[in-house]
Formats: sequence, C-alpha cells, structure tokens
Amino acid sequence: MKFFIDTANLQQIKEFNDLGLCDGVTTNPSLMAKEGISGKSNIIEHYANIASMVTGHVSAEVIATDYEGMISEGRELAAIAENIVVKVPMTVNGIKAIRTFHDDGILTNCTLVFSVTQAILAAKAGATYVSPFMGRLDDIAYSGIELINGIVEVYSNYMFETEVLAASVRHPLHVSQCASASADVVTAPFSVFMQLFNNPLTDIGLAKFLEDHAKLNK
Ligand code: G3P
Repeated sequence: MKFFIDTANLQQIKEFNDLGLCDGVTTNPSLMAKEGISGKSNIIEHYANIASMVTGHVSAEVIATDYEGMISEGRELAAIAENIVVKVPMTVNGIKAIRTFHDDGILTNCTLVFSVTQAILAAKAGATYVSPFMGRLDDIAYSGIELINGIVEVYSNYMFETEVLAASVRHPLHVSQCASASADVVTAPFSVFMQLFNNPLTDIGLAKFLEDHAKLNK
C-alpha cells in the first residue's frame, strides 16, 4: 500500500519524505488556499517545488469546470514536471477530460468520488487514480470503508488498471481498513501518519527496557 501525504505544506512534505514513507503527494484547491498560495504563477511555482521534493506522483487539481478549460489547465499542470498527476473532479466534463488526458499520455486522478458507479466511470475513462472520499461519507452516516471495498471488488472483477486512492482519510482506523481492503494508496494528513506510530504499550515497554538497563549500568 502506498502512502501519499495530503497537503500542500512544504515542511510537512519534507518531514514525511525524510521519514522514507512518502510515496506521493495529493493537494486540492482548499489545501493550496490553506498555505496562502494564490495567483497562477505562484500556484505553478508551488507545484514545481512539491514535484521536485518527491519522486512519487503529485496530484495538482484543475479549477476549470468546462471541458476546454480543464484540458488547457491540465496540460499546463502536466508540463510542470513528469511526476505531476492532473486531478479532475468527477463530472461529465471531468470524465470527458480524463479520457482525453489518457489518450494524450497524461496521468490523472479522478476526485470527489462517492459511489462505486462513479468509480466505474473513472476507470472506463482511463483514470490513473480514483479518489473515493472516506471521511466525508462517514460524516453523513454512510460507510467510507464499504465504498472502498466495493470499488476494489469491482475493479478486480474487471481487471481495471485504475488505482484506488483512498482520500478524506481522517484517522488510523481508516488506514488499517484500507490496508485490509487492498486499497492501492492511502492519502492522509501528516498528523494521521504520525498517529500510526503511537501505542502506549510501546512507550511502557521502552521505558521498562531503559529502566532495567540503567539499574546495572549506572
Ligand atoms: O484528499 C481529499 C481530502 O483532502 C479531503 O479530506 O478531510 O477535507 O474530507 P477532508
């Protein structure tokens, strides 16, 4: 299972990459805004910075919602670096654009996916990744992990090559559920990945080891 960090924060990307855990990065317009990145040249420069920091794929989202706008923006984003993946929303125009990008050899991530049927459309269009949002489904009392399981099953039934990139991952349970479901990728905030390290028994065990060692090594 690949770990992508879901942020546009350069420091967090560096820290995660330095841990040797960063297989890629996902961003979205909200995450870019959170970092105060605005204006076309700043946005492009920021994506270029991120893409140079990691070897894995970096998702950069189009803002346009019309087909022509998506294509022109997506081509500009893809030209920034070889590891840029154009993130496109799950809409009629988005699916049409993903097909065009696929035919042009441009990698894509179909985002804002909330059903198995939407995921089928993304795969049929040739998306490189599909991004089902777990947390936002849980928020409205639907099961995020059921969606991941459903997409993994259907993709396996038909041997679709699109990778399942679980998004809107909010806590460690989501990560372990995705691993059990054979999701290809989990993208999560830095804080969620850091939570994966934690277990009180590890802390208690280490304290005891050090205490016992200290007794004989004063
Ligand atoms: O990858 C999508 C993610 O950024 C959305 O997460 O927590 O805003 O639902 P969240």
